[in-house]
Amino acid sequence: MKILNFGSCNIDFVYSVDHIVRSGETITTNKLETFPGGKGLNQSIAISKAGSNVFHAGCIGTDGKMLKDILQKNGVDISYLKTVEGKNGHAIIQVNKEGSNSIFLYPGSNEMVTKDFIDTVLNNFEKDNIILLQNEISNIDYIVKKAYEKEMCIMLNPSPFNEKITNLDFKMLSYILLNEVEAEEITGCTSSEECIVYFKNTYPHLKVILTLGEKGCIYIDKNSVIRQSAFKVKAVDTTAAGDTFTGYFVSGISKKENIKDILKTASAASAIAVSRNGAAPSIPSKDEVINCIEGLKPNDTNNKSEILLGKIEAYISENFKNASLKDLALKLGYSSVYTGNLIKKLTGKSFSKYLQQKRCQYAAKMLLNTDLSIESIIENAGYENESFFRKIFKEKYGKNPLEYRKEVK
Ligand code: RIB
Repeated sequence: MKILNFGSCNIDFVYSVDHIVRSGETITTNKLETFPGGKGLNQSIAISKAGSNVFHAGCIGTDGKMLKDILQKNGVDISYLKTVEGKNGHAIIQVNKEGSNSIFLYPGSNEMVTKDFIDTVLNNFEKDNIILLQNEISNIDYIVKKAYEKEMCIMLNPSPFNEKITNLDFKMLSYILLNEVEAEEITGCTSSEECIVYFKNTYPHLKVILTLGEKGCIYIDKNSVIRQSAFKVKAVDTTAAGDTFTGYFVSGISKKENIKDILKTASAASAIAVSRNGAAPSIPSKDEVINCIEGLKPNDTNNKSEILLGKIEAYISENFKNASLKDLALKLGYSSVYTGNLIKKLTGKSFSKYLQQKRCQYAAKMLLNTDLSIESIIENAGYENESFFRKIFKEKYGKNPLEYRKEVK
């Protein structure tokens, strides 16, 4: 299966810092390193390192030769990589002592992807070829439209999230690979369990891969939900961990491997990337992944909590009207006291506060996504008393329900 990745190439300036700089603060950094990066470039390299052929299409600036070189060195086909007049895109990345990062981007050449160039590239691809996209180049809405017309298999990593993503027609996508923050932006759901329900109901044809950092990942399609734990490693730099996962996932899909195996390999590859410095240079080869995978330990603590929380949320969503701590405890097989403590530990809230929060979120979602009357929403959410609902809603969303429906819709 032919794979085209239409994406960004950045020069990454990586600053090691004691902590990520706060607004109004000046700090001195410990080290500056320059790496090839960009979500597009990282993902193309990951696809190639995972053992698949990939064409990288995109624009580099006159100062972007190192990016072309690294793509070529890693076996990526650069026939559709164009050099344009002007500066290459770059990223300013701070990495703190725990390996967490904060990034801002200068788009440069990545914003010079024109409709003419897109047409020229897409002329070389056909039905069922895979096209992978992120959100760091210009005209992604046009690419999605044209690729959909050609009946290509469109895989989107909606990162970084902004209004360009909201404007896309998700019905045109075959796969979406996103993290918790992006998922919340797109669905309005604050938990993975709610996201699962949202995607299954709203886009039943779409295959969704939700990455949850150290809590692992979840694959969702209309018939199945498959979970994979993350692997435990000492985090050095999390930059490109998601890109590594995406590249390995795309490669696995192109080879028609089984989803469980793909998730396991992609998670292991991503864990190895986290244990190394830099973006593209941190991506492991398939051989390295195979050699390490048996020695890696799954991060099950987080996974168990995630599953338990999932069960609690599923119970609440199915029982908005009659949910009770006693009934939930019975379903989980624990005592009420233990269940109450567990909920407090997992959510930071008492059962009744947590139930209120979920009811309110459900009502907000219904206000946005349906034309149901306030009365039926209140009833479905399990509120007996309308004025109580209005009070709670205003406290949480700063508006009364009708204003919210009008302004946010
Ligand atoms: O996902 C990591 C990448 O995001 C970095 O390489 C940086 O260039 C930004 O695009």
